[in-house]
Formats: sequence, C-alpha cells, structure tokens
Amino acid sequence: MTNIRSFKGITPKIANNVYIDQSSVIGGDVVLGPDVSIWPLVAARGDVNIIRIGARTNIQDGTVLHVTRKGEHNPDGFPLIIGEDVTVGHKCMLHGCTLGNRILVGMGAIIMDGVVVQDDVFIGAGSLVPPNKTLESGYLYVGNPVKQARPLKENEIAFLKQSALNYVTLKNDYLEQ
Ligand SMILES: CC(C)(COP(=O)(O)OP(=O)(O)OC[C@H]1O[C@@H](n2cnc3c(N)ncnc32)[C@H](O)[C@@H]1OP(=O)(O)O)[C@@H](O)C(=O)NCCC(=O)NCCS
Repeated sequence: MTNIRSFKGITPKIANNVYIDQSSVIGGDVVLGPDVSIWPLVAARGDVNIIRIGARTNIQDGTVLHVTRKGEHNPDGFPLIIGEDVTVGHKCMLHGCTLGNRILVGMGAIIMDGVVVQDDVFIGAGSLVPPNKTLESGYLYVGNPVKQARPLKENEIAFLKQSALNYVTLKNDYLEQ
C-alpha cells in the first residue's frame, strides 16, 4: 500500500518539488503546495474535512494533522489550513486550525480546533493552544494554556522565514539523493 492514500475517491494533490518521507501517511483531501516537506512519521488525514499546506512549509517528524467533520451546529467543521513558510516542529498536533504565513510551531505543541494563528508568530515548544483562540501577529506565545509572552525581536521575525528556507534546502538535498 502506498503512503499517499485516496479516500472516497479523493487523492492528495502534490505540487512540484515536494518531499514526502516514505514513512509518513498522507490521505484524502490534502493539497500540498510547492516545496513543501513532510518528514518521517507524519500522519495527515484529510478524511472528514480538508487539509491545505502552503508553499515551502515543513512538517517535521512525528507530527499529526487532522480535522473535524461538518455538523448541524458547525456547518464548516474545522478544516486544517496551514499557510506558506511555516515550520511545524517535531511531534506537534495540529487539529482543525488555521495558520497564516511565517509561523514557527515549537516541538510538541498542540493546536486545537478553531484556532487562528496570524502571520509572523512563534509558538514555544510544548505549548497548548485551546480551541478558538486567536494568536496575534508579531508575538511569542508559550505555555499550557498558551499566553502571549512578548513581542518578537527583529531577528526572530527574520528567522521565521529563514527556518522555512533552511528546510527547503534540506529537502532538496534529500530529493537529490
Ligand atoms: C520559547 C523559546 C523561543 C525561548 O524564548 P526566550 O524568550 O528566548 O526564552 P528564554 O530561554 O530566555 O526563557 C525565558 C523564560 O521562558 C521559559 N521558557 C522557555 N521556553 C519555554 C517554553 N517552550 N514553554 C514555556 N516556558 C518556556 C524559560 O524557562 C524562562 O523562564 P524563567 O524566566 O522563569 O527562567 C524557546 O524555548 C522555544 O520553545 N523554542 C522552540 C524551538 C522549536 O521547537 N523549534 C522547532 C523544531 S526545529
């Protein structure tokens, strides 16, 4: 069985120059933009709603991506939308949330349904973002539940983009092997 799996006739759509480790599983209504990288043991299950991942975003080892179905009281359900140049660290859980561009999700973070993370946000390792919370652009957030810690410094904002570019370079090395 392939690790790119169809569900109800929908097969994941994968843009050019995407790297997907063989040990990860991508299934259903999932769209991966150009230069995305999916590292070992990631599970991305677009079965009861959709998953979209923007250009140059990296999803690191052991991360789980899932969604919530549409229902009577929640007509859109909770899709998972991740923007461009996002770094999702090792062993994160992203469930039914919306992330903008140039975000770093620290290792082991949990982001729950209905959360919106605006552009240029840094989420510390091990943070838990409770349902429906909005994380404001330009800030570091840490803790369980997550709290706004401080504004990001200029070098940290620059690092958000750089981190994504580092992963584009790394996945190109893997693709060339
Ligand atoms: C949050 C982070 C950015 C550090 O920010 P910082 O402002 O430089 O933090 P400092 O190291 O100066 O620590 C400031 C305080 O926050 C605490 N702290 C640091 N990281 C924390 C975290 N993830 N969650 C909760 N508290 C944290 C420190 O213990 C310290 O507490 P104290 O003041 O009581 O001693 C960093 O620890 C982090 O979580 N980075 C994520 C890295 C990652 O996961 N990358 C992706 C994988 S490649």
